[in-house]
Amino acid sequence: MNEQQRKEMSQIIQGDAADRKSGQDKPLKEKTSEDFAKYFETTYEPPNLNKARKRGRDEINVHYNFQIPEDIKNIGNGKKFLIRTYGCQMNEHDTEVMAGILTEMGYESTSDTKEADIILLNTCAIRENAENKVFGEIGHLKPLKLEKPDLILGVCGCMSQEESVVNRIMQKHQHVDLIFGTHNIHRLPQLIKESMFSKEANVVEVWSKEGDIIENLPKVRHGKIKAWVNIMYGCDKFCTYCIVPMTRGKERSRRPKDIIQEVRHLAAQGYKEITLLGQNVNAYGKDFGDITYGLGDLMNDIHKIDIPRVRFTTSHPRDFDDRLIEVLAQGGNLLDHIHLPVQSGSSEVLKRMNRKYTRESYLELVSKIRKAMPNATLTTDIIVGFPNETEEQFEETLSLVEEVGFESAYTFIYSPREGTPAARKKDDVPMEVKKQRLYRLNDLVNKQSAEAMKAYKDKVVKVLVEGESKNNPDVLAGYTERNKLVNFKGPKSSIGQIVDVKITEAKTWSLDGIMVENTVEVNHNG
Ligand code: SAH
Ligand code: SF4
Ligand code: F3S
Repeated sequence: MNEQQRKEMSQIIQGDAADRKSGQDKPLKEKTSEDFAKYFETTYEPPNLNKARKRGRDEINVHYNFQIPEDIKNIGNGKKFLIRTYGCQMNEHDTEVMAGILTEMGYESTSDTKEADIILLNTCAIRENAENKVFGEIGHLKPLKLEKPDLILGVCGCMSQEESVVNRIMQKHQHVDLIFGTHNIHRLPQLIKESMFSKEANVVEVWSKEGDIIENLPKVRHGKIKAWVNIMYGCDKFCTYCIVPMTRGKERSRRPKDIIQEVRHLAAQGYKEITLLGQNVNAYGKDFGDITYGLGDLMNDIHKIDIPRVRFTTSHPRDFDDRLIEVLAQGGNLLDHIHLPVQSGSSEVLKRMNRKYTRESYLELVSKIRKAMPNATLTTDIIVGFPNETEEQFEETLSLVEEVGFESAYTFIYSPREGTPAARKKDDVPMEVKKQRLYRLNDLVNKQSAEAMKAYKDKVVKVLVEGESKNNPDVLAGYTERNKLVNFKGPKSSIGQIVDVKITEAKTWSLDGIMVENTVEVNHNG
């Protein structure tokens, strides 16, 4: 950033750890424009991946006193917001929190960009194409911003945590008003206010070091049937290809009582399914200094709550312990679908990825799971074309996919991410070869998926009905316990219920069926 650009940013906040602490323990103090000018002259730094990589040993504080300052509470009255979400479930859930905060500020939601007074792009940095999509959208929104100067255009989420992205936005996309990261979502009210009163400049607030845990944030959930529940934030695994530990900070777990209270509340509101969220949920609780309590214990406690379906994502094979397997084997509302990203079938590649397990230990874990849960469905994530992956190593991935019998997989071509160790490696695998590997892998996965679907023909499955099918309003759609999409004929009154559906046709990615009469009732623990 040159001096001129610095000058153009007249109001910039840099939140360092000390600033953050004082800000969160008391209601956040209003800063005057002089304060901002001072900050801008002396302390602005872009987000810093080096800083983000360092894990502090400080205790993580949990804050229960979130509130929107009185003078900001009604700032959105008569105004509308739109949030575009990219990336994973974590981002989708963050969007629900931001929607909750904006709603409490008086804003209403809209899906029409032209109607919006505030547009937020909640971004993902996982692969280059994810970032390209966002830059495309920032460009598309420029004419609208020029036409409507009062529009607040904000960029948040994982891309905002990247130094290069923030610099690029400030240099090339000056129509963006607001940039904030993943650790300071609770500061949205103050940031919007600053943005409103500084129309000529960007407001940037990105914390490179991870934040504390803020409980009691308002949420506007996407639906009334399924809900996300964060159980932990961040990731400490540092897989060599992955940007997430830098964009989401260190692992920090929510206290069990807060999670259990949220799940109970969702059950009381009539939600039928929850998905517990974390980048590596198997590390849940490892950061507690005072209690020994892990994911197995949490699942065991949630098992007792009267909510029909409980899922969790994402599992890391490394921390998947026997206690969890034992608890999951109880069944009931704990569904026997496990998403267990393997990334590669070659121990050598896994080592270079810093995954800290081998092909053999992964297979051992799978057989333990299968022994305890014979009907479990396994799905996975796989990266092809990791730097210098050989044909033989790739074939080991194919053979592992067959051996485990994954019923579906998210497959990706490796994408170098700035600031990660793998991105510094020379890579002798041409893109054309990587693409061919992806096609070959997808062919195998599709074949296995179709095969697994065929087994459902003429069977009766339990479907949580989510609504009308996307392509045909006369047909309903929902998911089985093992997460298979089912389109079927049945009464609209079954929406939001778990019903029995007889499968009449199996396709590669979905099943067709007919509802079995008299099953429109909630089927607890079944
Ligand atoms: N925390 C989860 C997944 C996080 S990201 C886990 O560890 O399993 C989702 C998936 O994106 C990863 O499982 C991986 O397959 C893929 N991914 C992550 N970084 C990538 C990169 N640089 N290039 C290609 N795919 C990547
Ligand atoms: Fe990324 Fe690995 Fe963490 Fe998953 S476990 S988020 S792949 S660093
Ligand atoms: Fe993307 Fe961030 Fe999720 S990088 S995958 S949105 S944690």
